[in-house]
Amino acid sequence: PTIQRADYRPLAWTVETVDLHFRLDPEATLVTNRMSCVRKRDAADGPIRLWSEALERVSLSVDGQAPQALREDGGVIEIDAAGDRVVVEVVTRVNPRANTTLSGLYLSNGGFFTQCEAEGFRRITCFPDRPDVMARYTVTLEADREACPVLLSNGNLVDAGLLPGGRHYAKWEDPFRKPSYLFALVAAKLVAFERKVETMSGREVLLQVWVEEGNLDRVEHAMDSLVHSMRWDEETFGLELDLDRFMIVAVADFNMGAMENKGLNIFNTKFILAKPDTATDLDYENVESVVAHEYFHNWTGNRVTCRDWFQLTLKEGLTVFRDQQFSADMLARAAGPEGAASARAVKRIDDVRVLRAAQFPEDGGPMAHPIRPDSYQEINNFYTATVYEKGAEVIRMLHTLLGQEGFRNGMDLYFSYFDGQAVTCDDFVEVMSEANNGFDLDQFMRWYEQAGTPRVKASGEWNAADGSYTLTLAQSTPATPGQHVKLPLVIPVALGLIGADGRDLPLRLEGEAQAGATTRVLKLTEEAQVFRFVGLAAEPVPSLLRGFSAPVILELDEDDARLAFRMAHDADPCNRWDAAQRYAERVALALAADPAATVPEAFVRAFRALLNDAALDPAFRAQALALPGEAYLLERMSPADPAALRGALVRMMRALGATLAADWLEVVERLQVAGEYRYHPGDAGRRALVNLALRYLAAAGVAEGLARAEARFAAATNMTERFGALAALVHSTSPARTAALQAFHDRHRDDALVLDKWFALQAGAWRWDEAAEPALARVRVLLSDPAFSLSNPNKVYALLGTFFRANPGEFHAADGSGHAFWAEQVIALDARNPQVAARMARALENWRRFTPALQASIRPQLERVLATPGLSADVAEIVGKAVGE
Ligand code: ARG
Ligand code: ZN
Repeated sequence: PTIQRADYRPLAWTVETVDLHFRLDPEATLVTNRMSCVRKRDAADGPIRLWSEALERVSLSVDGQAPQALREDGGVIEIDAAGDRVVVEVVTRVNPRANTTLSGLYLSNGGFFTQCEAEGFRRITCFPDRPDVMARYTVTLEADREACPVLLSNGNLVDAGLLPGGRHYAKWEDPFRKPSYLFALVAAKLVAFERKVETMSGREVLLQVWVEEGNLDRVEHAMDSLVHSMRWDEETFGLELDLDRFMIVAVADFNMGAMENKGLNIFNTKFILAKPDTATDLDYENVESVVAHEYFHNWTGNRVTCRDWFQLTLKEGLTVFRDQQFSADMLARAAGPEGAASARAVKRIDDVRVLRAAQFPEDGGPMAHPIRPDSYQEINNFYTATVYEKGAEVIRMLHTLLGQEGFRNGMDLYFSYFDGQAVTCDDFVEVMSEANNGFDLDQFMRWYEQAGTPRVKASGEWNAADGSYTLTLAQSTPATPGQHVKLPLVIPVALGLIGADGRDLPLRLEGEAQAGATTRVLKLTEEAQVFRFVGLAAEPVPSLLRGFSAPVILELDEDDARLAFRMAHDADPCNRWDAAQRYAERVALALAADPAATVPEAFVRAFRALLNDAALDPAFRAQALALPGEAYLLERMSPADPAALRGALVRMMRALGATLAADWLEVVERLQVAGEYRYHPGDAGRRALVNLALRYLAAAGVAEGLARAEARFAAATNMTERFGALAALVHSTSPARTAALQAFHDRHRDDALVLDKWFALQAGAWRWDEAAEPALARVRVLLSDPAFSLSNPNKVYALLGTFFRANPGEFHAADGSGHAFWAEQVIALDARNPQVAARMARALENWRRFTPALQASIRPQLERVLATPGLSADVAEIVGKAVGE
């Protein structure tokens, strides 16, 4: 059934307090839930409504009596109650061991864990499981002492003690009202890494990171990240931790990245554990940003939460924006005054890459939705790149339009109005407007209402006679499923004009007395607008959408020479990177269209110039010299032909590797990082560029490069270098690759997270010689590897996710074997874990963009999945929309 945003109605009853008691048992956990329910004064008359899913209900009473009238329909229980206040007590029995969905209460390595967002709490007890019901929770946990020495829940520990029969208990009280999706419990054999810190008002708080004992040597970075996040939120937004104790728990089986449960964040181990021997620079960066993200939710999400799930971007878009700003600040600080600007730009480029690779395709396919969707079948399918990443871009535009101070004033007002409430996206944008003497709210809200990636078409006209440059900007948004009319948006377009010498020109718009800054933000609000710059001596080169100032596709006719010019001179690093990406895209698509075409010399020259520009930060060079992602390129190719594109990319890698072999070898020689590993943007940038150099050299089969990769693999003292060298070898025809994979496996055979890298590398491997085994054959072998398990999401994402989403050249093999395998695996996964299955199912949603032959191969597989008896709502929504039902 489809749920509509327009159908939102407040409930007639709310819950004031919840008293939960868990008698934890792996197969039969007994949950007693006493809720004090209160009739809302302003609400229409109606019953108490409770949601229930996969629950065995042992008993239900109202004020100690059997309810007078109880109706049950499709997981919703309605109880008529007299008066304004009643206590409802529900006892349920659940089987955590049998819960393979990892939603609700489940087991992982013998411990008990919960995941309640979005609708997992109803799998634990019957409850008005909606975010607009906020209650105070008291939780008592009772479990076996041996198996579960640690008992945690939200808030403060108020009591603990021993029980007969080798059991014990702990009682927790959360002083803050919260929606049920923020409830959590953990009962397991864990140890804590602790730190005590003072908050800005001088309160001492206890921070804990709980992990299995063997992982204690890899939690320091997560703890540091937490402390940095606390400081940053105090300094940037004046937001302080409101609890005496803040806990993070790492668990190996987890559907998503992490979860912001009040005072008890639960994390996928992947985003907590890091030490030099097992985690790459990217892993360190991800730990820092996910720890920050979840911590920031304490204010943007928990103190002020969402009224209903359509408002998800209210907390997610805002919190992603906050974690992006935090990471940029942290990188800039570590890089020091000289490297700060570049470090920020590199972070911004990372964010843009993610948006283009994941969100643009989503916006162009059957799942396209506004950042605030109007309808859904399964809310878990809407934790999307659109809600998160495009949502963050929308907040960033507000920040750009209002300025840092105006934005901060808006945030202050937001908390002053809405602390402790469940609100909507309109509420947020309205206070932003109120704090900034109003702005065109209605037009800005279209970013929340319209799906699809807007196009901004730019054209410039130079008038030599009067020294003026006229820029015309026109916007349009393509139709998306169910949404054909699109209105003009407010689009901030940051622009610079570059002079013939490569330097930015001071900008002067017609009518202005004098020239000012070299970058400024134009506000595009109409379908088309004209901007006339005057006082110019020669024709400028425009640099548009600097810093990627809006989540749009910029269409601008630039010839090769102009792209090379901007690659060499654009003062905005994002645009310099983008110029390189556009040029590389042009070459890749030309090579894909013509198997006889070769890489143009002018491109190689422009590429070499960037590579050898020692004034440029290595991290930036690594970004600019990496070819655009395959997913993004397929999105730009019509019809999408993954095999042809793969062929083109192989030829480009080989040509750039061979022609520039001496330059790459020089990079490998000069940019080695000496000394002990530290997570630092400067070092990370050098490692990234050396790893990229090895990739090109290995792809081209340059003997000296392969020798360097082998030596580096053998001598590496940290995971970034070891894995970088291994990846280079695997992406080559070197006979050493098999032994290297084996050695890597043997060294890390007992480390689940490192083995995920090993699985992913093989699933994502390109075929560099015709005789090599197809990736699918390898993936099939790995499926039965003893370290693999379909029950562990990380393993599934590493092996199947990488094959389906990051290896299109192999996945879309012409014989259709990949597509049949996809259907087989989606069906197998769906029976255990619908959320994970739905994520894998999404790999084929944009199938109509492919060549007719591929479409013919994919369609029957989509239909096969759709016809599977007992298919989950999760997968049914994705595949149903893909085939157009
Ligand atoms: N709120 C979490 C975060 O963004 C994600 C939880 C997603 N859970 C889900 N079942 N889709 O940090
Ligand atoms: Zn989040």
